[in-house]
Amino acid sequence: TKMNDLLPPLKVAVTGAAGQIGYALVMRIASGEMLGKDQLVELSLIETEAGMSPLRGVMMELEDGAFPLLSKVTATTDLQEGFGDASFAMLVGATPRGKGMERSDLLSANAKIFADQGKALNETAAVNAKVLVVGNPANTNALVASENAPDMWPEQFIAMTRLDQSRAKALVAEKAGVPVKDVDRVIIWGNHSATQYPDLSHARIGGKWAKSILKDDKWIKEDFIPRVQKRGAEIINAKGSSSAASAASAAIDAIRDLHQGSDEEWLSNAIVSDGSYGVTKGIWYSVPTVCNGDSHYRRVQRLPIDEFSAKMMTRTEMELIEERDSVRHLLPGHEAKPV
Ligand code: NAD
Ligand code: LMR
Repeated sequence: TKMNDLLPPLKVAVTGAAGQIGYALVMRIASGEMLGKDQLVELSLIETEAGMSPLRGVMMELEDGAFPLLSKVTATTDLQEGFGDASFAMLVGATPRGKGMERSDLLSANAKIFADQGKALNETAAVNAKVLVVGNPANTNALVASENAPDMWPEQFIAMTRLDQSRAKALVAEKAGVPVKDVDRVIIWGNHSATQYPDLSHARIGGKWAKSILKDDKWIKEDFIPRVQKRGAEIINAKGSSSAASAASAAIDAIRDLHQGSDEEWLSNAIVSDGSYGVTKGIWYSVPTVCNGDSHYRRVQRLPIDEFSAKMMTRTEMELIEERDSVRHLLPGHEAKPV
């Protein structure tokens, strides 16, 4: 692409930009892997006071990357300034879990961050801004952010389950001995947590029904499902810290497909429930979606759900309801009534 054919810059705000995921993420946004090789991009990096010094280092590295598509980089601790006119906000900044913790243990530490960020996005982000929540517990943080942004559509907020989907695809490809690109229609239902339901009922390998190729229901139920559910913990146990480069990669994939379209592939995203599949309205529940490049993810509707799947889908829904109830104090208008 010639420089004068480039599209005018889009502003991408990234919180927690000096953290593990942020570090991997900003380099790839700058290189054009997310919004396209003909799209100029402006990075707005948001950190805490303590994060400002490492962030200066990250900014130096961004400079040294000499990325032709990177038109501007700014750093701030001020949310309104950081989100101002942003077309995309990637909410990564939050505490990660350590060994032996569940992601929901982070609720009390992290949910408040997302209430403040929702308010600031509401005030200053571009009207059609898209928000990807990565910080854990991602689904409920997205709910909190959205509820604090009353002038934005709930559909503008997505919690990331793309990493879970990629993990599931990779496991199926390995099991079947095929390249990952041959596997499609793998679904993650529900919460980005150990209750999530990685579902192969509709998955295909080379266009054929995966279950008829794998012929191994025991593997699906006893190996595949728990492995995907606990992959985050498996990485923490091995590495001492949570997944970062793969999480950044999944975030790039999720926004790239939202911005540029996904062809026919089903992509798992946790979006606000509209009651489809009998899921309680108003919680952020991962479903299969498609995107035709108009910046909207639409859920794939009317899939047949068997008895096992229905049970698994309800279990993860119940956990999300519990999480929602535990952050009521952060949801304007839904505060618990005094008894
Ligand atoms: P990290 O500790 O390496 O980095 C987090 C960064 O966020 C730090 O630099 C910190 O200063 C900053 N930060 C904290 N609070 C902030 C705030 N209020 N505003 C702006 N910045 C803030 O952590 P990490 O490994 O990069 O993980 C970040 C989050 O992403 C964690 O909650 C982790 O659990 C989550 N995560 C989610 C997925 C997913 O699939 N959804 C995958 C991996 C990690
Ligand atoms: C992951 O899935 O790797 C992240 O959510 C980090 C974690 O806590 O597991």
